[in-house]
Amino acid sequence: MSELPRDSRHDPVLRDEVLAALAIAPDERHVDATFGAGGYTRAMLAAGAEVIACDRDPDAIAEGQALVEEAGGRLTLVHGRFGEIDRLLGERGIDAIDGIVFDIGVSSMQLDRDARGFSFQKDGPLDMRMAQEGESAADWLNRADEDEIADVLYHYGDERQSRRVARAIVAARPLSRTGELAAVIRKALRHPPGAPKDPATKSFQAIRIHINGELDELKAGLDAAEKLLRPGGRLAVVSFHSAEDRIVKTFLRERSGGDARASRHRPALAPPARAATFDTPARKVRPGKAEEARNPRARSATLRSAVRTAAPAWTGGDTTKEAMSC
Ligand SMILES: C[S@@+](CC[C@H](N)C(=O)[O-])C[C@H]1O[C@@H](n2cnc3c(N)ncnc32)[C@H](O)[C@@H]1O
Repeated sequence: MSELPRDSRHDPVLRDEVLAALAIAPDERHVDATFGAGGYTRAMLAAGAEVIACDRDPDAIAEGQALVEEAGGRLTLVHGRFGEIDRLLGERGIDAIDGIVFDIGVSSMQLDRDARGFSFQKDGPLDMRMAQEGESAADWLNRADEDEIADVLYHYGDERQSRRVARAIVAARPLSRTGELAAVIRKALRHPPGAPKDPATKSFQAIRIHINGELDELKAGLDAAEKLLRPGGRLAVVSFHSAEDRIVKTFLRERSGGDARASRHRPALAPPARAATFDTPARKVRPGKAEEARNPRARSATLRSAVRTAAPAWTGGDTTKEAMSC
C-alpha cells in the first residue's frame, strides 16, 4: 500500500514517532483507535499493515469511506467507542492484534465546524458531543449545580478560578451558544481584549472532556488494548492533557511491574501480585521544535508506548483511580 499518497492536510501529530513505536511489519494487523481524518491510518496502510480503524463520530466514519475504497480491502472502519474495542473486534471474529494507537482528544474537523460546538473561537450550538448523541454541553451546563461545574473545570481544565467561572455560568443560564459561554468566561476572568491566551481555552477543554467521558474511555481503552495485543504487540498513546498522560503513565508503570506510587522515599510495600503485561515502557516522546512551529496543536502532545508481554491481561478492577483523584 506504499503507493497511497501522503496527504499533508492529514499529517497527524508525532506521525513518524508513532510509526516507529508501532514498528509495523508487512501484513500485520493494527488498530487505529481514533480514526479522525485518517492521518495515522494512511501511514499505517503505507507501512503495509491491515488496519481496523475506530471512531465514535459518525461524520469521521462517513468521510473515511473514500479511504476504505482507496485501501483495496485492507481497511475496515468501525463506528463505536474505543473503550469497547475488544467487543467491537470480537464481533468481527478478531481477538488478537499486532499494534494499536490512540490519539486522544478532539479532531481538527470537529474543532473547525461551528455546528459541532467545540470551539470558543466560533459561534455555534453549545454541543461538544463527539458521538452526536447523549447529553450536550448546553444540557449539562443548564442543569448541573455550581459545585459540579467548578469541579469539572478544575480537574479537567486545570482552571484555578473554577469557582468564579462556575458562579458566572450559573448566573448567566440558560446558555445555548458557544459564543455566549465564551463571553461569560472571558468576563468572569476579566480578559483584556487582545491578550495572548484566551481564558475560555481551559473551560472549553474541561467541559468537552466531561461531556464525552474521555478519561473513563481512556482507561477502558487501555484495558481493552491489553486484552487484544498479542505477545510482542505494540501500544502507542498520544495525549494532550496532564490528566490523560497521568492515566497512561500510571497504567504502564503498574502493568510493567513498577508501582507508580513507589519512590526512593516511599518504597512499594509488596511486589505486584500479577505478572507484568507490558515490558518497561519507552521514555515519553515530545514533538521537536520544527513540528511545534508547524503545528501549534503538537505543543502539548506526549507519546508513550510499550510492548505487550505474554502474561495474561489483568481483568476487572479500576487500577487508575488514583490518577483521576489527584
Ligand atoms: C485527535 S483526533 C484523531 C486524529 C487522527 N489521528 C488523524 O490522524 O486524523 C481524535 C478522534 O478520536 C475520536 N474519539 C475520541 N474519543 C473516542 C472514543 N472514546 N472512541 C472512539 N473514537 C474516539 C474523535 O471523534 C476524533 O475523531
